[in-house]
Amino acid sequence: MADKIKDAYESSKNIYDDVLTQGNIFSKLYIKIFWSGTDDNEIARRILGCIPDDFSGSLLDVPVGTAVFTEKKWAKLENAKITCLDYSTDMLAQAKVRLGEYKHIDFIQGDVGNLPMPDENYDIVLSMNGFHAFPDKKKAFSETNRVLKSGGEFIACFYIKGKSKITDWLVKNILSRKGWFTPPFQTEEELKNILEKYYSDININTDGSIVYFRCKK
Ligand SMILES: C[S@@+](CC[C@H](N)C(=O)[O-])C[C@H]1O[C@@H](n2cnc3c(N)ncnc32)[C@H](O)[C@@H]1O
Repeated sequence: MADKIKDAYESSKNIYDDVLTQGNIFSKLYIKIFWSGTDDNEIARRILGCIPDDFSGSLLDVPVGTAVFTEKKWAKLENAKITCLDYSTDMLAQAKVRLGEYKHIDFIQGDVGNLPMPDENYDIVLSMNGFHAFPDKKKAFSETNRVLKSGGEFIACFYIKGKSKITDWLVKNILSRKGWFTPPFQTEEELKNILEKYYSDININTDGSIVYFRCKK
């Protein structure tokens, strides 16, 4: 399973940014047809808007991917201490090209299901477009919670099932087979139940088949 994920992201690393940011006509069409037109750029804007521009605490970005959405924000948060973690060395290498020069940003190759950090280490854990890719979601939820300080914020967005038949078909028959997504996936209700076990002040929204939320430990 782990190698399937590494291979999938190795093979897609050159087209990944274009697809997610709708950088060409084909990716625009793909998003319109299969993702009800949900704009990942807009969701990223909303999610990153939850983090103050003068944030000076500690933040874990897991998975950082190529840092296509987070590059500008992380570069500006010079008083923060940011850790970028990803399982794929290929994706991480691209994030390093974007952000490697900054002293306040560290990069770690690792597994979200077995994070190499002590308990209660971060003020914010951010997970953009990660949980639909993580193979062991139970461990991913417990590990991201473990490394978050009490009172810290968990902020995330990812695919949930049950919102669109065509998106669910694509995820099941193509994206999961290729290794970009890994089942099982949650419905919105299932996700709410998980979050309620770990967090309070849950503010949850959906846009097409993407859920985005912030909550407090
Ligand atoms: C869809 S990308 C999202 C990247 C980035 N956050 C974004 O929004 O562009 C999913 C990422 O999850 C990473 N990933 C998959 N399984 C992982 C795991 N067990 N631990 C850490 N990262 C993982 C993949 O390598 C890939 O870079």
